[in-house]
Amino acid sequence: MRRSLIDILDLSTAEIDELIKTAMDIIAKPKKYAKKCQGKKLATLFFEPSTRTRLSFEAAMLELGGSVIGFSDANSSSATKGESIADTAKVISCYADIIAMRHPLEGAPLVAGLNATVPVINAGDGGHCHPTQTLADLLTIYREKGTFDNLTVGFCGDLKYGRTVHSLIGALCRYKNVKMVLISPEELKLPYYVIKEMNNHGVEFVETTDLEKALPTLDALYMTRVQRERFPDPTEYERLKDCYILTEEKMKLAKSDTSVLHPLPRVNEISVQIDKDERACYFKQVLNGKYMRMALILKLLSEGEVENLKYIERCELVDSTGMVCTNPKCITKKEQELPQSFKIVDKEHDIHRCVYCEHKLKR
Ligand code: NCD
Repeated sequence: MRRSLIDILDLSTAEIDELIKTAMDIIAKPKKYAKKCQGKKLATLFFEPSTRTRLSFEAAMLELGGSVIGFSDANSSSATKGESIADTAKVISCYADIIAMRHPLEGAPLVAGLNATVPVINAGDGGHCHPTQTLADLLTIYREKGTFDNLTVGFCGDLKYGRTVHSLIGALCRYKNVKMVLISPEELKLPYYVIKEMNNHGVEFVETTDLEKALPTLDALYMTRVQRERFPDPTEYERLKDCYILTEEKMKLAKSDTSVLHPLPRVNEISVQIDKDERACYFKQVLNGKYMRMALILKLLSEGEVENLKYIERCELVDSTGMVCTNPKCITKKEQELPQSFKIVDKEHDIHRCVYCEHKLKR
């Protein structure tokens, strides 16, 4: 097995800092890196639509002198014939040196990582996580603020299904004195496992529905799209889709140096008028994403064999006999031969989390 990136928690703080350092060096001396991946192939396996992430991975590999194979539509892959993720991962390992996978089911890249013989990068799994977007976000914050310590960061919009939010909070939690302001409608509040991560680190956070009130306190504001494709009920999406729209008027309430981030695509949660505001950082994020993916590809290709995935090493697994994950978006729902697997998160209340999708289950 090779080192993979399934969850942002797979990277230590020192490793994140190292990736930022490499990305900054790539920005300063691109020529030095132009042939680093000559002869290497990246496979992009995108079972779910993407513009930025897939092309960013591809551009990253090409700028390192490597080449790219893959597909951008599940319908053109053998998944339509019923091939499992495990088999796909084994097959692609024969063709490519590294895999970037996006999948609508939560936990699919973990299954790939456990079965591939090359590194697997999670490029987004359902509403669960999206660690490489976090790398883009972190480099952006770092370049704007020069630090992650002592920042008050607001997250606004769909905090329930927004996988980029889950991963970015997982990363920021580890820095000193970071405060989070979680701005969302009641229905789209942050999932339990992300709250738990903040609690583990003793991070100060508030949950609110009021963007205007939060704005003057923020050093950075992370806006998100309401994730239409993840709603079980389309009428619920229609009701919530325009819950927050950042306008020029509202930006007057923000500090003069509040960085506005958004993983994109934007629907209408940020007015286009704000694009010319120097606090708007969302297009810078796109470019930073490519540099961080270059740094990540270099890192993972340079690492040797590992005993297990970091993701699994962090789990305190329990005897899962009789336990079945209830999340309809979990990879175990589609691939029923996968072993149900749970880790303990709260011994006192007998609360477990599915290893694949993090859904909570009380035994
Ligand atoms: C995000 C994603 O796919 O989760 N986009 C991206 O990768 N830049 C955010 C989104 O789709 O809203």
